[in-house]
Amino acid sequence: MTRGSCLCDHLKVTPFSGDTVETASGEAMAESIQVLPEQASVLVVDDLAIIRLSLRHILTKAGYCCREAEDVSGALAVLDKESIDLVLCDIQMPGASGLDLVKALRHRIPDTSVVMVSSLEDAETAITCLQQGAFGYVLKPYQPREILIQVNGALRRRMLEIAFRDREAQLAQKVREQTVEIRNSREEIALRLISASEHRDNETGMHVRRIGLYAAEMARLLGWEQPGVETIQSAAPMHDIGKIGVPDAILQKPGGLTEHEWVIMRQHTAMGATILKGSTVPFIRMGATIAISHHEKWDGTGYPRGLQGEAIPMEARITALVDVYDALSNRRHYKEPWPEEQVVALIHKGRGAHFDPLLVELFLANLERFRIILMANPDEAHDVEPGI
Ligand SMILES: [Fe+2]
Ligand SMILES: [Fe+2]
Repeated sequence: MTRGSCLCDHLKVTPFSGDTVETASGEAMAESIQVLPEQASVLVVDDLAIIRLSLRHILTKAGYCCREAEDVSGALAVLDKESIDLVLCDIQMPGASGLDLVKALRHRIPDTSVVMVSSLEDAETAITCLQQGAFGYVLKPYQPREILIQVNGALRRRMLEIAFRDREAQLAQKVREQTVEIRNSREEIALRLISASEHRDNETGMHVRRIGLYAAEMARLLGWEQPGVETIQSAAPMHDIGKIGVPDAILQKPGGLTEHEWVIMRQHTAMGATILKGSTVPFIRMGATIAISHHEKWDGTGYPRGLQGEAIPMEARITALVDVYDALSNRRHYKEPWPEEQVVALIHKGRGAHFDPLLVELFLANLERFRIILMANPDEAHDVEPGI
């Protein structure tokens, strides 16, 4: 290592070569002080030209790409235009101080590291700078190796932080993708499960899909959190799963049912709950609740338990409403779709009798949203052909 002459009274500058160190301790240091492969860019901010010259000399010799500014506003102008990895900054300068620059960088360009270069009398402020996010500080007069150790350490930490953040972002993206995959697969499981019963009934595959979408929309309107919205979207389509246990002779009987047949038909609620109960999966658990309660009525005249008002679980009240809306709005082999004004009139009439009055208000006030779901998910042609 060659020694150079002092640049001024308060500086002891030792021109330093990062790859040429003679002493044993210097060799160890040379290993730790390596020029980063990407030739990091360093901005030197100091009002004294001689210090900028000294620091630029140290940094460029070690392989860094160097820029200079004589005050904070000049530094910010450089930072606005160029990508700077690290700022090496004086504390006391005319105008804004180095501390001001540290604070500004923390908000504007948090990826840029800062190392302070301060006099002994600025030591307290230097500590404040560290608390505000600066990586380290070097006291004047400094040795070039001190500068390089701090610069290298700050850049390495910055690289680690960026790599860590990128990794976090990647993981978050992966979690998002897997969440979508899980939601899709659970929806598919639910739809396949109910397809076993729907073919024996008059319902269609798109009917049950729409029920999930309407129910999710209602949940959103009610201010439910996203997980709850997704749960009801998967759970509501299973409302009639219990029909799998109703004999064909009743399920597909043309014309009206006898009182005895109605008793059996009504059992599809309890059968659905039996099929779905005891699960640890939230949407299947909610499916059980909806299955048992989706024929309850607000005024207590529904079945199987004659529950009244808020004693009927909200998810079942939602499903009851949207199930009727969809059944009336679509063609079935035994009926044409009702005009929307008739559907609305019937739902309005059911306010406080069949349906939760608040849900009816919410539904009708946002009818457009449900109409969009209805239009965007039409029945397949073969679903509604007579006799199917
Ligand atoms: Fe039902
Ligand atoms: Fe239904």
